[in-house]
Amino acid sequence: MKRFSAVMVFVMFAGGAAFAQDAKVEAGKAAYTTYKCATCHQIKGTGGKLASALDGVATKLSAADIKKWLIDPAAMEAKLPTKPKMLMSTNLKTKKITPAEFEALEAYLATLK
Ligand code: HEC
Repeated sequence: MKRFSAVMVFVMFAGGAAFAQDAKVEAGKAAYTTYKCATCHQIKGTGGKLASALDGVATKLSAADIKKWLIDPAAMEAKLPTKPKMLMSTNLKTKKITPAEFEALEAYLATLK
C-alpha cells in the first residue's frame, strides 16, 4: 500500500507538471499574438517575412539563445553578419512583456522543433 501511494503521488505530480507545461505553452502562443511576433516571423507559413521563420527554432538554437533573443534582442542582433532591416529590439522595446510572458514564450518556442 505504501508503494502504491508513492506511485500515485508520482503519477499525480508528473501529470500536474505536464499540465502546467501545456498551460505555459498556451500562454506563450497567446503572448506571441499579443506582442505581434507574426508581423515579422512566420510559423507554419503564417506571418511576415521580415525575419526568419521560427519553425524548427528549438532545433536551430539552444534554449539559452532563444531566451537571449527574447530578453535582449539588441545583443543578439549585434552578432548577426548583416543588420536586419526591421529590428526586433526597437520593435519590442516599448512593449511591456512580463517575466511570466517571457517564460511562456520560451516554453512555446521550445516546442518548435
Ligand atoms: C520588427 C520585426 C520583429 C518582431 C516584431 C519580432 N522579431 Fe524576432 N527577430 C526579428 C529579426 C530581424 C531577427 C533576426 C534575424 C532573423 O532571424 O531573421 C529576429 C530573431 C528572432 C529569433 C531568433 C531566430 C533565429 O532563427 O535565429 C527569435 C527566437 C525571435 N526573433 C523571436 C521573436 C518573438 C517570440 C517575437 C515576439 C515577442 C519576435 N521575435 C518579434 C524581427 C522581429
